[in-house]
Amino acid sequence: MLDTLEELPPDSILGLAAAARADGNPDKVDLTVGIYMDEQGVCPVFGAVQKAQQALVEEEISKAYLPPVGPDSFNTGMRTLVFGQGSVALGEDRVSSIAAPGGCGALRIGAEIINAANPGARVWVSDPTWPVHIPLLGSVGLSFENYRYYDPVTHGVDFDGMMADLANARAGDVVLLHGCCHNPCGADLSLEQWRTLGEMAERQGFLPFVDIAYQGLGDGLDQDAAGLRALADRLPEMIVAASCSKNMGLYRERTGITLFLCRDADNAGALESQAAVAARRVYSMPPAHGALIAGRVLGDDALSATWRQELAAMCERINGLRSQLVAKLHASCDRDFSFIEREKGMFSFLGLSVEQAQALRREHSVYMLDSSRINVAGINAGNIDALVSAVKAVL
Ligand code: LMR
Repeated sequence: MLDTLEELPPDSILGLAAAARADGNPDKVDLTVGIYMDEQGVCPVFGAVQKAQQALVEEEISKAYLPPVGPDSFNTGMRTLVFGQGSVALGEDRVSSIAAPGGCGALRIGAEIINAANPGARVWVSDPTWPVHIPLLGSVGLSFENYRYYDPVTHGVDFDGMMADLANARAGDVVLLHGCCHNPCGADLSLEQWRTLGEMAERQGFLPFVDIAYQGLGDGLDQDAAGLRALADRLPEMIVAASCSKNMGLYRERTGITLFLCRDADNAGALESQAAVAARRVYSMPPAHGALIAGRVLGDDALSATWRQELAAMCERINGLRSQLVAKLHASCDRDFSFIEREKGMFSFLGLSVEQAQALRREHSVYMLDSSRINVAGINAGNIDALVSAVKAVL
């Protein structure tokens, strides 16, 4: 039976990361997968995470199952991190949540809930979006519609196009939004635009589903959640998928959470039970280690302060790299790259063709996605000049 199955082509992101790893050129530059790298090219463990982990290992006396929704410390900490200290919805007990295996697991649970409420629901996704969104949500049975988002000419958001397309979204539809640091393009909505979107959602009745995998890597933890919080202040319902992969560096621990903003506390409780049953039939229970670490970091004033400082330094370094890259590209290429400085988070499109991106790999061992998405956080003092001269060579 199994021999009818053929080998599949490599994943568009992970396949290129593997190709970069396999490249023997000592001067190769890997800007593929969205992982934060420091100046030494290492994806570091946060100091606060290290401390929380040590304490956890010392104190942990059991590996028995946790509750299906994950640890309280994690759920409480993440609700506040996402919705904010003074959140009215939190005060009204209108939010429930469930720990999930990473941001992907959180998206999957969100999709299961959407499909339970409205089987085969239409999900509006930005053009472009993270390529995994489609198979991840589609495998549950949801269907898709694109809305215009990135304008390759201005390198910014085509908000008029987005609004025109979303004018067709109606009650029963879902609109998938990138909470901040849009993956792959780095172009984000302004707060004003989020508000306009909130008015539209209220008028037309569609459900926002916000993927906020990069909170804290754009302008800061609160600033990056401001758009999502503007929606939460206005709307009765919303689903959020959040992750600690990037902002706590817990990538391999698979630490994510699905949050449900509901009409009232009773409905929030109902959603928690729905999510627990959905998880039970997909993977039963979430991993504990990362969630327990994150719960400790968020619940301890000293650890939380250290983590916030470490994250802010990371964010500052990424923004500094953006400026350096623009300055160096402008010094050697006759093209406007200033948009890179206006974008947020780990990613930017360089605006190169597929052929140019492939030539960069083949001829210069510089790895980016075919779309010319780069992981800005993979740049450092040791590889920036090689990147710039390779880009110049293919322009
Ligand atoms: C990325 O887009 O590179 C990251 O979100 C990692 C992944 O799983 O694709």
